[in-house]
Amino acid sequence: MTTAVTTPETKSGGPRHVAIIMDGNGRWAQSRGQPRLFGHHAGVKRVKEIVRASPDHGVKYLTVFAFSTENWKRTQVEVSGLMKLFRRYIQSEARDLLAEGVRVRFIGDRLQLDAKLRKVMDEIELLTSKNDRVHLTVALNYGGRDEVARATKRLAIEVAAGRIDPHSVDETTLARFLDTCFLPDPDLVIRTSGEARISNFLLWQSAYAEYEFINTLWPDFSAAEFATVLAGFGRRERRFGAVSA
Ligand code: FPP
Repeated sequence: MTTAVTTPETKSGGPRHVAIIMDGNGRWAQSRGQPRLFGHHAGVKRVKEIVRASPDHGVKYLTVFAFSTENWKRTQVEVSGLMKLFRRYIQSEARDLLAEGVRVRFIGDRLQLDAKLRKVMDEIELLTSKNDRVHLTVALNYGGRDEVARATKRLAIEVAAGRIDPHSVDETTLARFLDTCFLPDPDLVIRTSGEARISNFLLWQSAYAEYEFINTLWPDFSAAEFATVLAGFGRRERRFGAVSA
């Protein structure tokens, strides 16, 4: 579609597309003397809650960072536990997500993922493809630089084949090859757990996003706190490079 700057379209002036870096699961678990995966399981509950709360606040697009291209560096136990968790979540939630009008899609490089996981990802995308109440996009094996590199490769193939004039290539052209081609740009990016960095998340798409870095660890991030953050967004002045009126 486009990476043109989006403006909030909700009646309350709230964000239309919210992207979340769900950080702090490991620390949450460790502070309770539990293995890190315990925190990821607790994190899933929050994903469900925030997805459910989104339409109440006019959030039409919710994008969550579930697994980065760098997360493979974690222990084998944690990586395989997370992969199993994703598959279980997709399978067990499919019916509810369908009934609640959620359209589920994934961004990231799927080719490195296990075939069984890829299968359930394809299935839920197809199952929910007619839904339009809220669009949940899960970034899985996603990295912003990797995405731009993969998009550039696909674009280069089109240019080499003579289907795209290289002199016509602009931001809109490249955006069409990004994983997020079906999404508007995020208006608001939230990161939990007190870390103030973007960790390779939606680098291109967040050029004009507002950022909120929240101290709460992801498994403690409630629908009430989500509502507070969204209300704060409505008070910000977004200028997109222009000056105030
Ligand atoms: C970051 O916390 C979290 C992750 C890498 C995994 C996020 C995954 C979930 C919340 C599971 C559910 C998601 C879906 C969509 C099914 P961390 O492990 O880096 O925490 P730490 O910084 O405290 O170590």
